[in-house]
This record gives sequence, structure tokens and C-alpha cells, in this order.
Amino acid sequence: MATDHLIIFDTTLRDGEQSPGASMTREEKLRIARQLEKMRVDVIEAGFPSASNGDFEAVKAIAQAIKESTICGLARTSETDVRRAGEAIKPARSGRIHTFIATSPIHMEKKLRMTPDQVTEAAIAAVKLAREYTDDVEFSAEDAVRSDFDFLCRIFEEVIKAGATTINVPDTVGYSIPELWGERMRRLIERVPGADKVVWSTHCHNDLGLAVANSLSAVIAGARQVECTMNGLGERAGNASLEEVVMAIRTRRDFFSCDTRIDATQIVPVSKLVSQITGYPVQPNKAVVGANAFAHESGIHQDGVLKHRETYEIMRAEDVGWTTNRLTLGKLSGRSAFKSRLTELGIEMPTEEALNAAFGRFKDLADRKREIFDEDIFALIGDEELMPDHEHYRLVSSLYHSETGELPLARLTLAVGGTEQHVEAVGGGPVDATFKAIESVAKSGANLLLYSVNSITTGTDAQGEVTVRLAKDGRIVNGQGADTDIIVASAKAYLNALNKLQSTLERVNPQV
Ligand code: KIV
Ligand code: ZN
Repeated sequence: MATDHLIIFDTTLRDGEQSPGASMTREEKLRIARQLEKMRVDVIEAGFPSASNGDFEAVKAIAQAIKESTICGLARTSETDVRRAGEAIKPARSGRIHTFIATSPIHMEKKLRMTPDQVTEAAIAAVKLAREYTDDVEFSAEDAVRSDFDFLCRIFEEVIKAGATTINVPDTVGYSIPELWGERMRRLIERVPGADKVVWSTHCHNDLGLAVANSLSAVIAGARQVECTMNGLGERAGNASLEEVVMAIRTRRDFFSCDTRIDATQIVPVSKLVSQITGYPVQPNKAVVGANAFAHESGIHQDGVLKHRETYEIMRAEDVGWTTNRLTLGKLSGRSAFKSRLTELGIEMPTEEALNAAFGRFKDLADRKREIFDEDIFALIGDEELMPDHEHYRLVSSLYHSETGELPLARLTLAVGGTEQHVEAVGGGPVDATFKAIESVAKSGANLLLYSVNSITTGTDAQGEVTVRLAKDGRIVNGQGADTDIIVASAKAYLNALNKLQSTLERVNPQV
């Protein structure tokens, strides 16, 4: 059986970024884009350039930096959107414009207030204009799942004539089920004139937990591009998860007549990076990238695996990157070994001072922790390191007192805009006391939406990684902090979130 190439279109930096609080800075997007390139993603949807200047600059920077993946910018069908996307992707070695408009009756009538003819005209005009910037133009019929089939055929025929090279069929609201989705894809490919000249793509949301199943069904029906995100991040319940799609197709090569070019050993490192940057933890039982994905708990299973791995394992943990991530640096490692590991991880320190400071913290951590992993390194390099000018609040030192029968007390020294201030507060617990102490000086008035602690690696000497999600005036930001002391990690995470609320570089969610 001939094996076709299945294009992996990663939209972590666009649809993934639409998760609440997951909005990323330009530097964060660049770091993820570098790792996606290393993982050999075919197309990186880097953002929505007309959503904000920040997103325009992020897409442009990614287009400049990435050489091995196609860089895509999203655009509605308006002239300004398409031109903005065209300008943003201009520096790319290979650039794509992805233009979309809704085609379902409910979206056309209630949201766009446009007739089907007007929608078709807008789509044709957008595709023609996009072709002035690049030969690689994708058209999406938003809410295709609830669109009239004949209308979909008509609009797809027209945009293919206008020059679209990829036709994307989205299940925007996660409504479909696998049989129906595959059937829709198959009929579209059969019916639309010019279907053989384009790549058919599927883009599924996970509202019913079926995004991956629907995507695979579309692939069986002939789709040769899947749009997906790392860890299944995305609007509401998320998008189809890249790692699950890639590994389903690879593991069941006997069944699928296509494969991807993804370097699967990069999957776990990229998953961890995305989780660390967005503050979205990966659930332990998540397929492929969850901490328990390869852990065998029952005695019968353990016994089987010890006798013959394949009794209970259909994939090898090392094939998806579970063991490639171990850092061979230790307490005695030098600065240049540390620097070259950062480079391998796609982290570029902006100045020698920032590198020295990070190296100092690495040494400090190595004194407290026997083994250091890449996850520890990612946690060491907060975005303050990459953008030192944007650190308004910094933890200088802390002291906690917690005793049975007493209210816990936190006493902190903070650097606020370069000046040291001493604060203290009591609270329901040491974390509560810490946040109250910080608020006594920051007075942000922000709402705490989420507080979560995760162990970065295993063992009681592991660093705890804390995520704090704050909301203020319609903005939602995630702050992260890591330390072997989780109260210190909590203080760092809270301060990191406050710095993001302060920073003008932190972009609002493009959908807001
Ligand atoms: O879900 C959706 O319809 C989208 C489009 C922009 C492709 O994200
Ligand atoms: Zn989407």
C-alpha cells in the first residue's frame, strides 16, 4: 500500500492561544515555534496578525526565524485582515495565508448578517487577494459541520477556482461524530469540482471529546492535512491533540495509508514546554504525554510488561520522548555546557548578564536537587529572564512561620520597581498569607481564578511548579513559578502574574 504524506498543521500558537489565559508573548511564541520546527511540523499557524500589533509582530518574528516549517497567518476575509496576514508572513521562506468565513445558516444570519452569495463573494475576493502575497492559500468554511452541504460544495468550488490550495473543513463547535465527519469529507472530495487539485484538511474541536476520532475519520476519508494543537489546547474543550493524531497514525500504520514526518521523540519535550508557557497542566492520564501514559500500576500488568513489554504497551515511551529529555548536566557542569543545553532547548538568553543569572540559579538548584531535567531548566528560565526590563515585582527573600494552632505568617522582601519593600501578612495558610502580603503592596485588585501546584519531576526533592491565573479588567494572565519550596514557588508565580498584568508586551487574547 502506498503511503501518502499527512500534513501536520499545528495551531497551538493561534487556536491554542485562544484558551483563557493562554495568550503568549512574542518571545514565548518564538520558543514554541522553534521547538515545533525541530519536531518537524509541516505548517505552524503562528497567529492572527490583524488581532493586535503584538500578534502581527509575533507572526513576523516567527516567519523570520523558522526555516523548515511553513508559517501561516490567519485572516478573516476582509481586505485589511488578508493584507495584514500577507505582510506578517512576508519574511517566511515558505508562507501561507489562511482565510476563513462562516458558512452555516446560524453564523451567516446571526453573526455575519450576510447572505450566502455575499459570503461566497467575500471568500473569493479574500482568496484572490491572498494569492497576491503567496501561492499557498488555505480557505476554511467556519462551522462547516452545521453548514448546508450543497452550499459548502459551491463555496469550495469557487475558492478553488479563485486559487485556494488547501480546503479546510472545520468542526468549529465540536458537534460531529466520526462516521458523519468522515462521510462529509468523503462526499466533499467526490462532489467538489477541482477537489483533486487541493489538499483537504480537517480541523476539529473537542466539545464532545471526539476531536481526534473525527480527525482520523476525515483522514480515512481522504483528508491529507490535520489541524491540531499540542496537548489538545484550544478554544473551550480544545482542539484535536497533535500527539494523539500523530501516534494513532504511526502506531496503526497497518491501517492508515498515510504517515507524518513528525519526529515523535520531540513530542514530550514540546508538550512540557507548551504546558509550562501557557500554564495549562497536562492531566496525568492524558494519552501519550500524561505522566501516567506509560506507568503500569496493577501487578498483573507490571508482571506482563517485565516479561514482554508489548503485552501491555502499544508504543514505546522513548519513541515519544519520555527519556530523551534527561539532562546530563549536574552540579559540576560548567557555564558553556549549560549554555549549549539552553540552545538545544531553543532558549536564547538576551544578554550575558541574563545567562549568568540563569547559570547562577542552575548551580543553586543543583545544590538542592541531585538530578536536573530539562523541565527544571525550562522552569528556571522564566520570561523575566528573557525580558528583564519587564520585571516590576521580584521576590528578594521570604520567611514563613506556620505552627499548629497559630495563623500562618509570611514575611517577604520584594523589589518593587527596583526599590526593596518589606511586607508581612497572616492568612488561612502560608500561601494565602504570602498572596496577602504581596497584595498589601501591589494592590492589584485582580481576581484569583486558579491556583495549582504540580511536581515538575519525581521525588520529594522535585521542584514544585505553581500556576496562578489572575483576571483584571477583562484580561486574564497566567503566572508561573518553580522552586523546591512550594511557598516560594507560589510567591514567584503570583509576582510573575502581576508582572504580566503590568507589562504592555503581554498580549490580550486575540479573541477578546
Ligand atoms: O474552529 C474554527 O473554525 C477555526 C477556524 C478559524 C479554522 O478555528
Ligand atoms: Zn478552531
